[in-house]
Amino acid sequence: MKKFLLVANWKLNGSKKMISDYLSSLKSLASVYSKKNIIVIAPPTIYLSQVYKDINNIDIFLGAQNVDINLKGAFTGETSVLMLKDIGVKYVIVGHSERRLFHNETNNIIIKKFNLIKNLNLIPILCIGEIQNNNYSQTKKIIEEQLNCIFKVLGKEAFRNTVIAYEPIWAIGTGLSADPKHVQYIHKFIRNYIQEYDPISIKSTIIQYGGSINSVNTEEFIQQPDIDGLLIGSASLDAKEFLKIIEIANYYT
Ligand code: 13P
Repeated sequence: MKKFLLVANWKLNGSKKMISDYLSSLKSLASVYSKKNIIVIAPPTIYLSQVYKDINNIDIFLGAQNVDINLKGAFTGETSVLMLKDIGVKYVIVGHSERRLFHNETNNIIIKKFNLIKNLNLIPILCIGEIQNNNYSQTKKIIEEQLNCIFKVLGKEAFRNTVIAYEPIWAIGTGLSADPKHVQYIHKFIRNYIQEYDPISIKSTIIQYGGSINSVNTEEFIQQPDIDGLLIGSASLDAKEFLKIIEIANYYT
């Protein structure tokens, strides 16, 4: 039976009060649900420790939204993967389209981050996806390029024990989620593509979808055989909504 990976990406949202309210409503049920699925909360960096304190005993994992390409030194304002590991982070989002777009993150930077995260035995969540709502062949071409740049530098085993989040950019924060059948098709393509390089790695690669997921559309996505989880933005800011999503996934686990 597969376990879904459900990641709450809070982006630039949250406060001490919001977190304590959120986690107290999550706590009562999450301890039951987290046995079936893998639940991750990725708050802004400044709140990582506060979240960690509260989730530690309810089997929810901590995720970071970003990391620097350096481990230590004179890099004012940055956060190292060593520090993330030190405070209990397990998953790190890398290459999110908002970082590519607003912080000029290039493929080279993304490869370095992905590699550092893996080397320290944390789990990278690599975000990939097309900008416009294209036809299948264009989307596949873009995805191939995004995967190839990692393969080229890190070799055929690059995706062992990692997460790939297919997040079509046009579906993020727009309320226009992609068609679940389209997502299934693309996820299968990603799976086959990785498998061609390394049949072993695909067993440990999780492929999740992100883009305007909410409790109403979760069910359609979760039923697709190649969707292993969801990366949820705005809907994850509401504890009740996030719990509903977890509950739906739980039903199909
Ligand atoms: P929304 O769920 O708000 O569309 O955001 C998706 C996302 O970017 C998750 O990383």
